Parts: sequence; structure tokens; C-alpha cells
Amino acid sequence: MTALITGASTGIGRDMAIYLSTLGYDLILVARSRDKLLKLKKLLPVRVKVIAADLSDPENAKRVYYVCRSFRVDLLVNNAGIGEVGPFEKTSLEKELNLINLNVTALHILSKLFYRRFASEGRGTILNVASSAAFYPGPLMAAYYASKAYVLNLSQSLYREAKESGNGVKISVLCPGPVQTEFNKRIGVTNSFSPASSEKVAKYAIDKTLEGKFLIIPEAKMKVSVAASSLLPAEMKSKLVYLIQKGKSPL
Ligand SMILES: NC(=O)c1ccc[n+]([C@@H]2O[C@H](COP(=O)([O-])OP(=O)(O)OC[C@H]3O[C@@H](n4cnc5c(N)ncnc54)[C@H](OP(=O)(O)O)[C@@H]3O)[C@@H](O)[C@H]2O)c1
Repeated sequence: MTALITGASTGIGRDMAIYLSTLGYDLILVARSRDKLLKLKKLLPVRVKVIAADLSDPENAKRVYYVCRSFRVDLLVNNAGIGEVGPFEKTSLEKELNLINLNVTALHILSKLFYRRFASEGRGTILNVASSAAFYPGPLMAAYYASKAYVLNLSQSLYREAKESGNGVKISVLCPGPVQTEFNKRIGVTNSFSPASSEKVAKYAIDKTLEGKFLIIPEAKMKVSVAASSLLPAEMKSKLVYLIQKGKSPL
């Protein structure tokens, strides 16, 4: 069995790679930092292919797929993602376009190309990493929340299409709350809630994916948050997130 993981150099993606290796999966690891991926490769007792690629360039996302055509791939984990924080009038358009290209466009390209391939093979699993942010509007982190809503919505559609057609493709989507990784450091904020352990989230997500679960929400408190999102009026949801985001102090 082989898994391809994007964003495997740090955080949840790295921990998924380590856990999948203990299950005997060979790995294809993608991120920009070749050195970190090569270091990880040395630690893992399975076959590992490293692809250094900046997935914010759509051509690179396509290239990753074409490079993998000669490999059997059983599990695609679309995990690479970045955030951007601040009032919409002040955040950088360039950074937001970069975020959309990575969180949305690259994920869309890889989902599309692997979904087609998996459907033609009658097997294969895609795990898309969204966020609990997917269930809420995200004032002061607007592009990030919107990007994760896209990931959740796309995954729900693919799950339904695969189920109705019986084409053998399995779809899961991971929606964690705050997790202890490089994510917040990269955007210069601290977590307002105690973050979950990346190792635990990664293991939980892989176990649930392999069990065939669609919507994966680690931690009871985040399950409550997601359940509440369908009960609260939109006005209250955006106010709540505004206050939470405002409380996250810059580093
Ligand atoms: N941490 C949280 O609180 C949290 C909560 C909910 C959801 N998530 C989601 O979980 C996923 C993983 O994030 P994380 O928390 O593990 O953060 P992280 O430690 O910052 O990991 C992000 C990964 O994405 C890669 N990456 C970033 N930009 C890239 C690019 N342009 N091209 C290719 N790879 C790129 C990074 O590697 P390089 O820098 O080497 O490219 C790294 O491997 C993201 O989709 C994030 O939105 C995180």
C-alpha cells in the first residue's frame, strides 16, 4: 500500500507519514522543504519517495500527479495548507492568492486527477484536510475560513458522487480544531484554546479514514463546536469567531 501526503515536512502531515509507516505504507512525501523530507525519509522503515514542490503553483500540483502515475497510490492525503490573519482591508492580496492557490486550487487539482484515476481503478481513498473553520465564517481570517469551507463542500460532493455511482472511491475530510504545529507560528499568532497534539490528530484521522468514516472531527469539544454551528444564527457565528480571532495575540 502507498500513501501520497502533501505538506509532509512538518505538523499533521509529517505525523501522518510516521503513523502510516508503522502500518506498513510506502510513502510519497510532498512539500517545499526537500531537506526536511529527506530527514524524515531516513527515519522511516518503508520505501519513501520525496517530491519537493511548491504547490501554490498549479503547474506543480499537476506535475506531482504526473510524476506519480507510474506508482500505485492507495491513499491521497491533501494536507498542505497555510493561513493568513488580519482585517480584510489590510491583509496582503498576494498572500491570500497564494493561500487560495495552495488550500483550494492545488487540493482541487490533486483531488480531480486522483479521483478520476481511482474511479477508473475501482479503488482508492482521498483524505482532504479542512478544519473546524469550514463550518464558520472567519472574520479576521476570512480567506482561510473560506478556503476550508471549499474543501469541506467539495469533499461532501465527491463523497456523495462516489457513493451513488459505486465507483469504489472513498472520501474522507478531516476538520480539526487548533493543533500544535508550525501553522500558527507561520502566521504570527498564538492559539486561543489549548491545541490538540499533532500526533494524536494524525493517528485519529488515519484510523478513521481507513475505517471509511467521511467526516472526521478529533476531540469532543470540537464535535460540540461543529454541532453548534448548525444551530447558531449566522450573525452570532460571525461575531463569535470575530471575538476569538481578535483574542489571538500576535507573537
Ligand atoms: N494547526 C492547526 O491548528 C490546524 C487546524 C485545522 C486545520 N489545519 C490544517 O492542517 C493542515 C496541515 O497544517 P499543520 O497544522 O500541520 O501546519 P504546518 O506544520 O505549518 O504544515 C504545513 C505543511 O504544508 C507545507 N506547505 C506549506 N506551503 C506549501 C506550498 N506552497 N507547497 C507545498 N507544501 C506547502 C509545509 O511544508 P513546507 O513549508 O516545507 O512547504 C508543511 O509541510 C493544513 O491544511 C491546515 O490548514 C491545521
